Amino acid sequence: MPIVESTPHGIAQAAQALRSGELVAFPTETVYGLGARADDPRAVRRIFTAKGRPADHPLIVHLADPAHITRWARDVPPTAVALARAFWPGPLTLILDVAEAVDRTVTGGHSTIGIRVPGHPIARELIAAAGVAVAAPSANRFGRISPTTAAHVEEELGEAVAIILDGGPCERGLESTIVDLTGAAPRVLRPGPIRRDALEAVLGGVAEEGSVASATRAPGTLAAHYAPRTPLRRFPAPALMEAVRAVCEQGLAATVLARTVPDPGLEGVTWLSMPNAPETYAAALYARLREADKHSGSTLLLEAPPETPYWVAVNDRLGRAVVGSGGEDVS
Ligand code: TXA
Ligand code: MG
Repeated sequence: MPIVESTPHGIAQAAQALRSGELVAFPTETVYGLGARADDPRAVRRIFTAKGRPADHPLIVHLADPAHITRWARDVPPTAVALARAFWPGPLTLILDVAEAVDRTVTGGHSTIGIRVPGHPIARELIAAAGVAVAAPSANRFGRISPTTAAHVEEELGEAVAIILDGGPCERGLESTIVDLTGAAPRVLRPGPIRRDALEAVLGGVAEEGSVASATRAPGTLAAHYAPRTPLRRFPAPALMEAVRAVCEQGLAATVLARTVPDPGLEGVTWLSMPNAPETYAAALYARLREADKHSGSTLLLEAPPETPYWVAVNDRLGRAVVGSGGEDVS
C-alpha cells in the first residue's frame, strides 16, 4: 500500500524518496500533486510516464521558499514579486521566463516555467525536508479529474508512485490560478482560487484569459480536461427539474449534481447535492464527479451554477468536464 500517513516519519520517508528520484504524491491546498525532484530529468520523465502525459506539456515547479525563484526563472519582473508577496504561499502559479541552466524536460521544452509556493503545511514540510524543488502536476492520469484525497490518487496511479502522503481532503479542491507574466500584460491562463479581482487589486490591469495560443501550452486550458467518463449534461437551474423528470419518464436512471434540493416526487434518481457557496462547491466538486462516475449507465445531469465572478473557476472546470466527458450544454 503506497498510502502513508503524514507523520514526521512519513514525511521524512517521502522526502528521502523524492531525493532519490522516486515519485511521491502529496497534498496541497488545491489538489494532490504527483511530485519528482525538478532538477533531475530522469525523475521528471517518470511523471510524464505515470500520467500518460505528452512530453511537451509543462509541469509546475513547487518551491518551499519564494527566494528560490531565481534558481528557476530569469529576469523576474516586479509584477511577479508583487504577486508572490501577496499570494505566496498559496494557490497561485506564475509563468516566467526559464533560467538558462534549467533542463527543459520540466518545461516540456518551452522557454517559460510555471512556479508555485504551495500553502499546505505538509507540502511545505515535504519540499523543505527534501531540500530540492519539486515538479508536480495534479496526481491524475492525463485528461482525468484531479484528485482531492489520497484514495483518489491511489485510484488514478496505484503502484506507479512510490509513496502517497495522506493529508486528508484538499481545502480548495480546484487547481491553482495560473498567471502568465511573460507577455506584454499579465494574463490569466487558468482561473482558480485566486480570483481576477484579487489579482487586479495587486497588478492594476489583467488581460483577458484563454487565447488559442495559450491553449496549446497549457493542458489545463484544453477544452476536454477534468473529465468524468460518463457524459455530463449541463442545464440552467430553471430547466433542471423538467429534464430530470423527462429522464425518469423514459424509465432511465438519473444521477443529478445540483445545489437545489430534489423534488420528493422523483423516484429512481440519485441526487448528489452540491454545496451552495462557491468555495465549498469547489472543494466538493471533484469528489462528487468521481462519485457520479460510479453510476455509469445512468444519465448524468448537472445544474449550472450562476455566471458571476465568484463562480468563474468552478464554471471553467464544469465546462471542460462537459466537453471532456462527451456530454453537452443544454439551454
Ligand atoms: O494547483 C495546482 O496547480 C496543482 C498542484 C499540484 O500544485 N498542479 C497542477 O498541475 O494543476 P497540472 O500540471 O495538472 O496543471 C498545470 C498547468 C498545466 O495546464 C500546464 O500546461 C500549465 O500549468 N503550465 C505549466 N507550466 C507552464 C508554462 N511554462 N506555460 C504555460 N502553461 C504552463
Ligand atoms: Mg492537471
